Amino acid sequence: MAPASSVVVALALVLLCFAPINISAAGVRRQPPRQQLPQKLRFGRNGEFKILQVADMHFADGKKTPCLDVLPSQVHGCSDLNTSAFIRRMIEAEKPNFIVFTGDNIFGFDATDSAKSMDAAFAPAIAAGIPWAAVLGNHDQEGTLSREGVMKHIVGLKHTLSQFNPSEAHIIDGFGNYNLEVDGVEGSGLANKSVLNLYFLDSGDYSTVPAIPGYGWIKPSQQLWFQHTSAKLRKAYMSPPQAQKSSAPGLVYFHIPLPEFASFDASNFTGVRQEGISSATVNSGFFTTMVEAGDVKAVFTGHDHLNDFCGQLTGIQLCYAGGFGYHAYGKAGWSRRARVVVASLEKTEKGGWGAVKSIKTWKRLDDKHLTAIDGQVLWSKNSAGTRRKKHIIGGGA
Ligand SMILES: *[C@@H]1O[C@H](CO)[C@@H](O)[C@H](O)[C@H]1NC(C)=O
Ligand SMILES: *[C@@H]1O[C@H](CO)[C@@H](O)[C@H](O)[C@H]1NC(C)=O
Ligand SMILES: *[C@@H]1O[C@H](CO)[C@@H](O)[C@H](O)[C@H]1NC(C)=O
Repeated sequence: MAPASSVVVALALVLLCFAPINISAAGVRRQPPRQQLPQKLRFGRNGEFKILQVADMHFADGKKTPCLDVLPSQVHGCSDLNTSAFIRRMIEAEKPNFIVFTGDNIFGFDATDSAKSMDAAFAPAIAAGIPWAAVLGNHDQEGTLSREGVMKHIVGLKHTLSQFNPSEAHIIDGFGNYNLEVDGVEGSGLANKSVLNLYFLDSGDYSTVPAIPGYGWIKPSQQLWFQHTSAKLRKAYMSPPQAQKSSAPGLVYFHIPLPEFASFDASNFTGVRQEGISSATVNSGFFTTMVEAGDVKAVFTGHDHLNDFCGQLTGIQLCYAGGFGYHAYGKAGWSRRARVVVASLEKTEKGGWGAVKSIKTWKRLDDKHLTAIDGQVLWSKNSAGTRRKKHIIGGGA
């Protein structure tokens, strides 16, 4: 080997040694781009924390972008701006503490400029000054920015608590895997403890494995991060000061439903299923990982715009939000909709606020009165731990 090329090889080795952060086995850069100062999420003085989920905005170019699947009488004057108006109406009606956008925030194919499209799509949340978070769907990267580029843009926007990826995970697949803690009421005994945990994951876009067709899935690297994070949070919550007896409830947000969403029919879900469950064609085991961790009470996805149900499997509620955006496919005459989740704290004997007592949900339709439907309790502390009664199928005995 000529001396010159040995130098090149040596230099390359040196570079590799000093740049491990930018290169990973998963081919993923994890160096976080500019982040905002962390804002603290906490329960309000009313003992509640309310989350608005916006699924599948499919935003493109604003006023120029027409609505899909609306009634013939609604076509005229309908555009992406109706999606923005719906967010503003929801904010006005529900006054959420936090907004989660669960992917397909923009419809990349039709957006001339992905960054501008995102700026417009998230503008109503930013204008309202409400902290918000977003994860990626399978359409966000189809425009002028890659998935990495889209997530980098999101984390630089105002009032967002979205993160590029966890700084402690050296290798992780995808962009926009992170968690947020929601502390107890200011001045209460649990003011400095996370009483509700929120997890956000990148469920990918499409399979890159030729032998496996279809959508992406949550990879082992992401599940390992989830396991570590959940374990750390459980330990902190159950340790002094104010050691609690059981873990704080966790809620998980991502875009593509898990194969387990297909476990239900109308007899055991609340809401509707009007199309198939478009999960990955393989099961990467994230549902089992969550069951094992034990703290997750509900999972919220989008992706299938005509499904809006919640069903419970092995102690975890699996919920769709239903399609929100007007440039997304839908069903004419079937209103666009959003899901609201509210966690409520229990009152302590001394009249203060304690741990989370219940988690409830409902949806609102983008009709004249923002009709609320399908109210249900997703989880309650009192019934947790006690085994659910077995339903006797077939009646009689
Ligand atoms: C879209 O917004 C326009 C302007 O506010 C409104 O007139 C129209 O009814 C909306 N369309 C739908 C389908 O909500
Ligand atoms: C929480 O932290 C704040 C600021 O550090 C402190 O003033 C307060 O006493 C703490 N509250 C509890 C219950 O630990
Ligand atoms: C829902 O009910 C159907 C039968 O109607 C049953 O096959 C299915 O296992 C049930 N799912 C769950 C999660 O209980």
